[in-house]
Amino acid sequence: MFIALLIMLAQPPHAVPGEEAVAPYAASNANAGASPVSGRALFQTFGGKAGIDRIVAATVDASVADPRTSDIFKATDLVRLKRTLSEQVCFILAGPCDYTGRDMKTAHRDMGLQTEDLTALIEHLQVAMDIERVPFAAQNKLLAKLAPMKRVIVER
Ligand code: HEM
Repeated sequence: MFIALLIMLAQPPHAVPGEEAVAPYAASNANAGASPVSGRALFQTFGGKAGIDRIVAATVDASVADPRTSDIFKATDLVRLKRTLSEQVCFILAGPCDYTGRDMKTAHRDMGLQTEDLTALIEHLQVAMDIERVPFAAQNKLLAKLAPMKRVIVER
């Protein structure tokens, strides 16, 4: 058990067991693209890491199933996407998480994402937060952190 943990911790962020390897990059919380909120309260309001995991999984699953965006996720490693997105949200909500994924520009490069793709994903995120009974004001605090990322994620 302990040895398995050591092996896992020794894995570089681009080659995690159970996930497809991606091109090497330097992991940093700066890659999350937003600074954390202050205080632990918002993280608790989201149901902690377990609540965030459920919200992220539901958002990704709904985006993959949505005919508006399903093609975009055809070649995506959904295990990695859910893990890194969950780390990112946990980090931004000031939970006890580090973000180990790529920066937002690199992660979405050459995908040709448009505003309507972002709108669809945010709709699914809002539904997922509603299901977890995250109050509207708390939802908006996360959305306010994600909103400026549009500049680097959406291409025109
Ligand atoms: C604020 C909005 C968004 C955030 C915070 C976000 C976050 C992320 C994160 C954390 C990753 C994984 C990075 C990594 O693998 O190292 C990622 C990858 C990805 N995102 Fe987003 N994303 C956003 C918007 C979108 C939208 C609107 C779409 C399409 C509808 C999208 C599609 C994808 C896809 C397909 C990947 C996988 C890329 C690959 O397989 O290499 N993302 N995103």
